[in-house]
Amino acid sequence: MRKRSRNHESIMKIAVIGLGRAGLPLAGLIADNGFKVIGVDVDERRCGDINSGKNPIPEERGLDKLLEDHGGKNLFATMNYEDAEECNVYIVIVPLFTDKNKNPDFRILEDAFRSIGKILKKCDLVVLETSVPPMTTELSVREWLEEESGLKLGEFYLAYSPERIMTGYSVSRLKEFPKIVGGVDKESGLNALEVYRNFVPNLHLVSSARVAEFIKLIEGCYRDVNIALANELFKIANELEIEFYEAREYANHEYCHIHLPSTGVGGHCIPVYPWFLIKEMEKRGKIGCVRLMRAARELNDEMVDYWAERIVMDCVKIDKRLNEVKICIKGITFREGVKELYNSRNLALARLLMKKGLNVYVYDELLSKDEIETRGLKWIEAKDADIVFDAFELKFGGWNERGG
Ligand SMILES: NC(=O)c1ccc[n+]([C@@H]2O[C@H](COP(=O)([O-])OP(=O)(O)OC[C@H]3O[C@@H](n4cnc5c(N)ncnc54)[C@H](O)[C@@H]3O)[C@@H](O)[C@H]2O)c1
Repeated sequence: MRKRSRNHESIMKIAVIGLGRAGLPLAGLIADNGFKVIGVDVDERRCGDINSGKNPIPEERGLDKLLEDHGGKNLFATMNYEDAEECNVYIVIVPLFTDKNKNPDFRILEDAFRSIGKILKKCDLVVLETSVPPMTTELSVREWLEEESGLKLGEFYLAYSPERIMTGYSVSRLKEFPKIVGGVDKESGLNALEVYRNFVPNLHLVSSARVAEFIKLIEGCYRDVNIALANELFKIANELEIEFYEAREYANHEYCHIHLPSTGVGGHCIPVYPWFLIKEMEKRGKIGCVRLMRAARELNDEMVDYWAERIVMDCVKIDKRLNEVKICIKGITFREGVKELYNSRNLALARLLMKKGLNVYVYDELLSKDEIETRGLKWIEAKDADIVFDAFELKFGGWNERGG
């Protein structure tokens, strides 16, 4: 690191705070590049798994090998921040949730940074990777660290580098996808660049932490708005009896990329990030700046109502009482191939139909009967249902397929 030994690789010890889907692949990769990594996580079981070389996220490709090689050795997981006090780099990837009014709830982040503040030393580098509203790093994070450590920025370094992984492909994304770093001041940015370059091959320094924070958010907003557009066009095409996918195939070219329609947008990221900007602008009385993003968010969330209505219309065609028609929602994870239900719109669709008093069942290739039933849902094999709605393909099956 700058202002430290030129031979910093030999003395650099890195702490990764938060060993979840985003933090653990990064921690494993840093260890794989020959560094001693202390991973801090509040989940005791997870720490135990990691230290015995067991992968707590089996669906994450390439992570098994990293943990087998480094778990409990180069990568040591602990619940105690004090175990990381010999580190000189602290990378934070804990979650930032929103409350019921869509405002960010900073409690987990604050707790993590105040804990780091207690062990922070002169010349240490702290990097936040969690997606946050703009200016979180230069304002809140700086304040928490300064208050707890008694140090001033300049005595320590502070930067932001957004996590841009995709669940399931995190290890390869970290190796290939461009990674951004930006410091709250020039020295911090250069320090972060120098450290990350040891384990991230495709790295870019931007002018500030604020720019780096914004880059991550606007990627999510772009996706959300474009998915909303696709959903709207899909509804129009359906109303006009136009084959949407055929039209989309030929409409898309170098300057036009119409996204795929869906039941909405799920997961930790895309449905959350637009709110960081919407709420910030609303706070500043600049509602006019975020009209499109707000409309897109609402439109995507309302797709479950649209699909529920279409499913009910299909049920009516069956010669059974409405509440006796066996409806199967096929695929309830938030994205195909990823065993995760966070903010799943497919699950929201199933629950909405249940609330309407319909006879709803669920099938998902990634979830066992037990895993479905413990969530208060009924399991069925698609072949035994009257109507099957494939929530990823947006296709109806079941009685239609049997020529009903
Ligand atoms: N998963 C993704 O695909 C993805 C993609 C891009 C960015 N991100 C970013 O990464 C952040 C974390 O996401 P994730 O998917 O890794 O979440 P996750 O829920 O899988 O993992 C979070 C981890 O943090 C731990 N934790 C919570 N509070 C803590 C504390 N005070 N100290 C230490 N550890 C603590 C939890 O026990 C958990 O293991 C997200 O908020 C998002 O900003 C995630």
